[in-house]
Amino acid sequence: MKHLLSTKDLSRDDAVELLDIAEEMTQVSAREVKKLPVLRGRTVVNLFFEDSTRTRISFEAAAKRLSADVLNFSAKGSSVSKGESLQDTIQTLGAMGADAIVVRHPGSGTPHRIATSGWLHAPVLNAGDGTHEHPTQALLDSFTLRRVMSGQPASGPADGCRGRTLEGATVAIVGDVLHSRVARSNVHLLNTLGARVVLISPPTLLPWGVETWPCEVSYSFDEAIADYDFDAVMMLRVQLERMHQAFFPNPREYSRMWGLTQERLGALGDDTWIMHPGPMNRGFEICSAAADSPRAVVLNQVENGVAVRMAALYRLLTGQEG
Ligand code: NCD
Repeated sequence: MKHLLSTKDLSRDDAVELLDIAEEMTQVSAREVKKLPVLRGRTVVNLFFEDSTRTRISFEAAAKRLSADVLNFSAKGSSVSKGESLQDTIQTLGAMGADAIVVRHPGSGTPHRIATSGWLHAPVLNAGDGTHEHPTQALLDSFTLRRVMSGQPASGPADGCRGRTLEGATVAIVGDVLHSRVARSNVHLLNTLGARVVLISPPTLLPWGVETWPCEVSYSFDEAIADYDFDAVMMLRVQLERMHQAFFPNPREYSRMWGLTQERLGALGDDTWIMHPGPMNRGFEICSAAADSPRAVVLNQVENGVAVRMAALYRLLTGQEG
């Protein structure tokens, strides 16, 4: 594995290996001194052309826990606002000695372009490209699911998950699939790991060609809750900033039909895990009772994100297994 650009490219063995290395990394994060010296002297550049809280900080924490030097670049306030091209930005970072580039960009395919351009010779990690993919988010979601499905703590150090897949799990992904790189990455990875995936969305918020994806589709949240026995429900943020036309009548109507409301939380019962990649729009796609319920693993997902990103950086920069 040279780069981490999409989950579609990951084999089952690669995915399980990354999750297993992340299991080792949770041990480091639980220590008083949360550091391993493995990337000492290496420089990881966080190149963010789009807003981010958890992903950027998570990659930074991950790189620092492996003792790498971290340079944070955000397009706002950089020479990009003066008209600098992507090629010039990347070559400048290469000249400064970047050993790995973590990139988030509004253009789908940008990380792939950087990885194949020859502009620099360093691993590229996709931290979210447009509406395409967000592989580390899907990996941390599967990591969290694997934990809870094996009866292990949702985050923190644990034994007993190594080598496991998600065979037998049924997972709903609910909401704005059209604009969601999280949904796309999760459909592929969950399928690779053996889970059954059901997308639940208004027809207007499903992408063209979804029938070729390895999943089932439902337009009705209530019918899907009645028809399936979900082990987990992954709620997606409604990506208003990417919507340039009306995809549903109004937010109240969206919540009523596709939101995780108090009633649906009750209908799902006590054995369904509630997930959300964050940031959450409380009262829109998810009610506070669901976000704060004992079945919600939203903060465990954030915690696991650091371990998963440590695993990805370690795997790509050292080329070794954990
Ligand atoms: C997601 C993203 O940016 O794609 N957030 C994240 O990385 N945790 C989802 C979103 O913004 O809704």
